[in-house]
Amino acid sequence: MSQATGLLKPALNAIAEDIDHSFDLLLPLPGDPRNRLVEAMRYATMGGGKRIRPLLVTATAAMFGVSREAAVRVGTAIEAIHVYSLIHDDLPCMDNDGTRHGKPTVHVAFDDAAAVLAGDALHDFAFELLSDPATSGDPFVRIELIRTLAMASGMNGMCGGQMMDIVAETESFDLPTVTRLQQLKTGALLAASVEMGAILGHVPIEGRTHLRGYARDIGLAFQIADDLLDLEGDEETAGKALRKDEAQGKQTFLSLLGPDRAREQARRLVEQAVDLLQSYGPEADLLRELARFIVERNH
Ligand code: IPE
Ligand code: IPE
Ligand code: MG
Ligand code: MG
Ligand code: MG
Repeated sequence: MSQATGLLKPALNAIAEDIDHSFDLLLPLPGDPRNRLVEAMRYATMGGGKRIRPLLVTATAAMFGVSREAAVRVGTAIEAIHVYSLIHDDLPCMDNDGTRHGKPTVHVAFDDAAAVLAGDALHDFAFELLSDPATSGDPFVRIELIRTLAMASGMNGMCGGQMMDIVAETESFDLPTVTRLQQLKTGALLAASVEMGAILGHVPIEGRTHLRGYARDIGLAFQIADDLLDLEGDEETAGKALRKDEAQGKQTFLSLLGPDRAREQARRLVEQAVDLLQSYGPEADLLRELARFIVERNH
């Protein structure tokens, strides 16, 4: 297996720049009383976040010869869904957080109504982008992209996981149920990112098995890393308030296994994910590095 390193940092910088540029271009201020809505959308989407999901799309799409422009458009759509999920996650009725990406959360900088609407409009914007022929000239590709993102976002994906996360504050879940919670809350959108890169590359469903396994494993590892960060991370580096999960009664791999076994589990998942890429050559090196970054990151 190829083991190149040093691909990740430039790739993270490049995708951050491309995604910022994309939101800047696609979310112009309308110059009427809707300005406040679009200002909130721009505030939330630009200049922050690791852009892991768009990077998963572009890294996968590049393996199959897809143009960067198309992959960035799809990455922008997934990032719009992700940012909407964060805006709503931070609301007083959910996690009630005041800092995100090192600045005040949207409901603090604007107000609750603007935050709810900015989240809603970002959700809609994602599907507007995917349904645009500029994303793919092939209507079958467009509909598969739309369906994949819709399923990863709704009751069988992120929203379902967020509901379980809230129910878990007052009920006690066993390990398989917490695993399901994490897979839906976080894993589904990460998995969709890889899947959508493959869809753009016209990879047939039977050719996606290993990529899907990779995505499932890193998705779970990613949330374990987020929960470890909540316990052990530095707030300034993370850009958000930490040490809140335990106080809010969140049920995580940490609360069930303790930090050492949870960390071990995350590492095992990442090695398993990398193993699943065995049939690919150096074209999958960025995905391999990304998998390792997921458990080693400090933000
Ligand atoms: C944070 O996701 C929320 C989870 C789903 C764990 P990220 O860590 O990807 O958030 P940003 O966009 O990089 O801040
Ligand atoms: C949020 O999980 C997952 C989403 C779907 C937004 P967390 O609540 O743990 O994310 P942070 O720690 O606020 O970023
Ligand atoms: Mg939450
Ligand atoms: Mg939160
Ligand atoms: Mg968290």
